[in-house]
Amino acid sequence: MPSNSDYKFSNNWFVHSAKAIWDQIIPQLNPRKILEIGSYEGASTCYLIEKLGHQQDIELHCIDTWAGGIEHQGTDMAAVEQNFWANINLALAKVSHRVDLVVHKGFSDLKLAELLTQGKRNYFDFIYVDGSHQAPDVLCDAILSFRLLRKFGLLAFDDYLWHEHLPYGVDPLRCPKPAIDAFTNLYCRQLRIVSAPLYQVYIQKISD
Ligand SMILES: C[S@@+](CC[C@H](N)C(=O)[O-])C[C@H]1O[C@@H](n2cnc3c(N)ncnc32)[C@H](O)[C@@H]1O
Repeated sequence: MPSNSDYKFSNNWFVHSAKAIWDQIIPQLNPRKILEIGSYEGASTCYLIEKLGHQQDIELHCIDTWAGGIEHQGTDMAAVEQNFWANINLALAKVSHRVDLVVHKGFSDLKLAELLTQGKRNYFDFIYVDGSHQAPDVLCDAILSFRLLRKFGLLAFDDYLWHEHLPYGVDPLRCPKPAIDAFTNLYCRQLRIVSAPLYQVYIQKISD
């Protein structure tokens, strides 16, 4: 049986921003159909496989270009993608239940639209948006994900407060917050914001 030290993670993003919250919400929600936008080396993906694959069959869709965002300039994304596959295979080897893993390599707008055209409207129990940090991309991910999420399902955004340190300050088009704010305002009659530490935003779908 592989151990946790066999994983190849080059950062602690998931542990710092999401793990403590997911330890609370994932057992409560107990999702079976999961979609992740932004997998990188698979830290959040492996968590979900390990946490859920011990107790039930799950279907897990991962969308990533493995080309990185503006924050990954200088990163060897081919090595990141290799680590993703190595890590995922370790996690899959640890669990007893069936994990239907569907990896969609490409831009999230196209891949989310494909899932919709495949009839997956109102399909997913849990969607994690952790892909592009550019506001227009995040807004697109949010709106398409909302359509793919089932009623009372949970949509989670990472990096609500992430921004670049630019000479002229914060560029509101190059960070997720304005997009997440616009989405939660426009959909305020169809969602409920779930209480969580502010670096991430969690919403529950109340109606279509
Ligand atoms: C912050 S990382 C994801 C971290 C991962 N969830 C974890 O817990 O370690 C963001 C990922 O989103 C991907 N990405 C950036 N823009 C994207 C886009 N428009 N469509 C699909 N993936 C994108 C990048 O390649 C990168 O791997």
